[in-house]
Amino acid sequence: PLKTSKEVGLWSARYIVNAINKFSPTADRPFVLGLPTGGTPLNTYNQLIHLYQQGEVSFEHVVTFNMDEYCGIPADHPESYRSFMYNNFFNHINIQEANINLLDGNAPDHEVECRRYEEKIRSYGKINLFMGGVGNDGHIAFNEPASSLSSRTRIKTLTEDTRIANSRFFDNDINQVPKHALTIGVGTLLDAAEVMILITGHNKALALEAAVEGSVNHLWTISALQLHPKALMVCDEPSTAEL
Ligand code: GLP
Repeated sequence: PLKTSKEVGLWSARYIVNAINKFSPTADRPFVLGLPTGGTPLNTYNQLIHLYQQGEVSFEHVVTFNMDEYCGIPADHPESYRSFMYNNFFNHINIQEANINLLDGNAPDHEVECRRYEEKIRSYGKINLFMGGVGNDGHIAFNEPASSLSSRTRIKTLTEDTRIANSRFFDNDINQVPKHALTIGVGTLLDAAEVMILITGHNKALALEAAVEGSVNHLWTISALQLHPKALMVCDEPSTAEL
């Protein structure tokens, strides 16, 4: 493991920049990057912005797909994942608006919206690199415990645990935390050519243990990555306490 969460941010940002530059994306052949929200990737986004400002990477031909989005809060709500992504990343780099893909949690028909998203991903062939975080209970994106490991993009009901964990972004008031979200499926994530999961902090120690030492298990959806040919866990020391 790396020592601190800061180092996880520096390392993962460098990894993404190297992957983009090695690929040498063009308009006809963009680099397709999957992205998460949450507290964990903030250091990575800050460092990616820094590397962009230093001229080490361009996002002009990078296409992004976010993992998930809440249902039932306005798109411009400060805690929507759309707002998170623009405020913490997209507003600060040279990505083209047309290359940003986000789920619309307020779409009139969730099924149609989720199908649209899957088809859009497929139109690029594969996601080159999907970065993710993990919930305390081992969920990836919003694939809560007991999600099918072959699931595709769909609506999920959030567990009480997840809503409590995320209430820190909603005035510590669980009643303000949405009850549903649209999320890519575990199967959608497994289709990416490469997956990189960031895991920091002692509260993620059980999730990391389940991810790498437990059996493949739908109660810890992160464990499905054991089936992936190229999955990487970037961890800090406190998260490895249970290994
Ligand atoms: C939410 C997101 C996940 C994220 C998790 C952990 O549930 N849907 O994608 O990995 O939170 O967030 P944090 O990094 O803030 O611990």
